[in-house]
Amino acid sequence: MNWTQSEVDAFKQGVAKKLTDATLASIFHRSEPAIRRARQRFTPEHVASRTAAPTETKAPDPKDDFKTEKAPLDFGYIPLDVLDGDEWTRIGLVADTHLCCKEERLDALHAQYDLFENEGIKDVFHAGNIVDGYIPKINGGSVYETSIDGQAQYCVDQYPRRNGVTTHFITGNDHEGWFQKEGFNFGAYLEFVANTNGRNDLKYLGHVEADIELVAKNGKTPAGRRQFMKIQHPGGGSAYARSYKGQKMVESFQGGEKPAILVQGHYHVSGYSYDRNVHIIGMPGFQDQTIFGRTKHLRYEIGGVILSFKLSSETGTITRLQPEFFMFYDRGFYKPFLKSDKTLIKGRTTIVTG
Ligand SMILES: [Fe+2]
Repeated sequence: MNWTQSEVDAFKQGVAKKLTDATLASIFHRSEPAIRRARQRFTPEHVASRTAAPTETKAPDPKDDFKTEKAPLDFGYIPLDVLDGDEWTRIGLVADTHLCCKEERLDALHAQYDLFENEGIKDVFHAGNIVDGYIPKINGGSVYETSIDGQAQYCVDQYPRRNGVTTHFITGNDHEGWFQKEGFNFGAYLEFVANTNGRNDLKYLGHVEADIELVAKNGKTPAGRRQFMKIQHPGGGSAYARSYKGQKMVESFQGGEKPAILVQGHYHVSGYSYDRNVHIIGMPGFQDQTIFGRTKHLRYEIGGVILSFKLSSETGTITRLQPEFFMFYDRGFYKPFLKSDKTLIKGRTTIVTG
């Protein structure tokens, strides 16, 4: 059925008034498909706007903005400031420097402390075996000094000292522990020798392990939520898997005795894992593989850690944590970069074989 001009005009008015297809069909005595075709034919601009995505915008209602409203915890929304409301804390971690051993890596250790200083680190925690100790049948042929005095003095003379950086160290049951006789505490003695040599940057924390309390900046850490970092030099041999010893240690802690962070020296291998709410940092050392290590098939990794974390003053718990491992290759890799070698040795010496 053809549309008269007056019908077309009336139809356009009906479309402008946003009448439905059904209403237009009853007004103009046509089927709804015919009305849809008429829309295409007489009012294509309305058809386009009708099928396009709604462009209508309304002013945002603060109540609709989920993030701006502090919903109650039982609603399932955790305010971000509970998780991320405090500043980062950064500390340095080292272990197993074994000074006086011929396999010590003073080159890497000094580079590590250069990095600490550059990065503004003020406190470095040492997880044990700062010196190699002395037992003739184990390391008798591989130490520069055999006496307690000699190793303490060597350590004070050689251990990195940097502006504003304090090293807090524990002692292990092995190595410096070999000097730990009844009535004599090697760690305390080492700090004493350091002090008498004008070094007050070497602070003894304890034998085998020490707990460092973590206190939120505003001092409002909720009661009953004591958080601490345990620095430890456990005994025993290495495990096949690098994370195994740390996990077994955390499993053995009683519920209330768990640290927030566990730093383990002794194994000379790097690792990070998280178990029973404990961040476990496995520490590499600063000693190349020794003959003893080779006979036991032990890997010796070289490196230190910058540990960054946030302690929430709302909950008193660790909310964010990043261990940054700064790893070194073996001594030979750095030979071309040593200042002395760079100056003295020009070019590479080769033998072309026949
Ligand atoms: Fe060690």
